[in-house]
Amino acid sequence: MDVKGEAAIVTGGASGLGRATAEALVAAGARVALIDRNADLVAATAQEIGALAAPADVTDPASVTAALSKAREAHGVARICVNCAGIGGSVRIVDRQGAPMDLDHFRQIIEVNLIGTFNVLRLAAADMASLEAKTEDGLKGVVVNTASVAGYEGQVGQAAYTASKGGVIGLTVQSARDLSSHGIRVCTIAPGIMLTPLLMGLPEATLDLLGDQVPFPKRTGHPSEYGSLAMEIIRNDYLNGEVIRLDGAIRMAPR
Ligand SMILES: NC(=O)c1ccc[n+]([C@@H]2O[C@H](COP(=O)([O-])OP(=O)(O)OC[C@H]3O[C@@H](n4cnc5c(N)ncnc54)[C@H](O)[C@@H]3O)[C@@H](O)[C@H]2O)c1
Repeated sequence: MDVKGEAAIVTGGASGLGRATAEALVAAGARVALIDRNADLVAATAQEIGALAAPADVTDPASVTAALSKAREAHGVARICVNCAGIGGSVRIVDRQGAPMDLDHFRQIIEVNLIGTFNVLRLAAADMASLEAKTEDGLKGVVVNTASVAGYEGQVGQAAYTASKGGVIGLTVQSARDLSSHGIRVCTIAPGIMLTPLLMGLPEATLDLLGDQVPFPKRTGHPSEYGSLAMEIIRNDYLNGEVIRLDGAIRMAPR
């Protein structure tokens, strides 16, 4: 899909991978709305990169509906939806004292990473379905989700995160099939270790150690490399129903 002049929404767009993707979309001539629950940061980021701020919590249907309305009024219905909003967390299933994980920890991460992603996907897809097709193939829109290599090989402490990202991986081919009659493509990126604000607080030595685990290139990934892959997925109409690892060939160790 040619993105020039198209409306796009990016969740988690205030920071990290979402911001980098929003910057790439703006540079390619798209009109971009950032959906993020951090109202101050999303306003500042939108101003910096030339996008629209649409603060919302992806887990809340009313909040996302309002953000999509705001974006639609400013830019028209979005043919492009990139889901980057997500949270991490590390808790063992049974801790050293023998206590089981608090189920609310598990629920919270599933709520944001899996249910939040699906919430935006379903609402954005319903909007896209109302559009005229843009190409001879009947393409109406494209959704890019974000999983993680932890969705395949979760480390100790990542039960909730792994389950949430495994859910996003499984949803990929299913939702591509489900939305095919509406001319909507769905792909997912499964990043390895990317240098976003999530990691930037770590000491240099820890970052070097993380980078050293990557076969090649021996470093953490740049957010712009995620943005570049998201742009290729958006542009290449024959990519559909696929999960693409973006990880320098890393396979995470157990811990
Ligand atoms: N950075 C990595 O190494 C890495 C690796 C694999 C997967 N990921 C995934 O990539 C995505 C982006 O991560 P990042 O590294 O850019 O993190 P980040 O913290 O820089 O950005 C995430 C953004 O999502 C927003 N957000 C969180 N919960 C939200 C909610 N309920 N509603 C709306 N917005 C919400 C945050 O406010 C933040 O701006 C996440 O899904 C993360 O799991 C990151």
